[in-house]
Amino acid sequence: MAITDSGPDQLPGGSDLPSLARVYDYVAGGTLNFPIDRTVGQHILSLVPAYRDFAKENRKFLHRAAAFLADSGTDQFLDVGAGMVADPGVHTIVRRINPNARVVYVDHDPIAVEHNRRVCGADERLGAFHADLRDVDGVLGHPIVRDRLDLDRPIGLIMAAVLHCLLEEDKPGRLLIDYRQALAPGSRLVASHVSPDALPVDQLAEAAATYARSGITVIARDHADFAALLGPWQPDDEGIRSLHQWRPDQNCGEASYANGVLAH
Ligand SMILES: C[S@@+](CC[C@H](N)C(=O)[O-])C[C@H]1O[C@@H](n2cnc3c(N)ncnc32)[C@H](O)[C@@H]1O
Repeated sequence: MAITDSGPDQLPGGSDLPSLARVYDYVAGGTLNFPIDRTVGQHILSLVPAYRDFAKENRKFLHRAAAFLADSGTDQFLDVGAGMVADPGVHTIVRRINPNARVVYVDHDPIAVEHNRRVCGADERLGAFHADLRDVDGVLGHPIVRDRLDLDRPIGLIMAAVLHCLLEEDKPGRLLIDYRQALAPGSRLVASHVSPDALPVDQLAEAAATYARSGITVIARDHADFAALLGPWQPDDEGIRSLHQWRPDQNCGEASYANGVLAH
């Protein structure tokens, strides 16, 4: 029998299986998760306490980067590997700056997609759908993208904490080239990626193994490998930085164990 939650967030459905979207939400301090996700999250935190700093700093980075883009004039966003859209989501952040901003959320986790659809509601400038980011044509050609976004104009492509779910054989660098070629000139990429630079190797290996037992891939790539992955996407003046040091504000912590970039 599926384990469900009757908590205040009333997640759709339930699951005996953990999912990265919900474990990450739990570790970031959210409530959009089931008991099995909390069990796995607690286990990973017991192995890698720093994972909590990563999740929290990643969400803060995502918010700062989305706001920065909206401030710079980007008015449409495609958030790929969006996870459980928490409050505030990207649409809330960017609409504080541009109330007409359009945001589409994509994930391959069915419960995340169902939750995100509920978050979007009947708003015609928001949308959420199920797709695998490795299917570039399927993502960019999806009817919800075609309806909500104008791909003849620049968009903000967000890939926060998702590229490290791709194996080398998935050719993540090739995928980033394909997205860039398909998008209008002037489009921007926001990306973050777990880094092994500041973490003990054995902790990382144990956390990755715990995830792998649940069918979840997480591969840390260091600064140089992340830079190589970006291919033709050129980092802006800020460059590739630890998340908590990327255009920091007063809310930033002191460590993040991942790198982030805004690129064009
Ligand atoms: C760690 S969560 C990050 C959530 C959100 N982007 C953030 O930074 O707060 C990674 C998300 O990527 C999704 N994901 C992983 N591989 C994916 C793929 N191949 N296609 C689409 N989504 C994917 C997972 O389901 C999960 O929701």
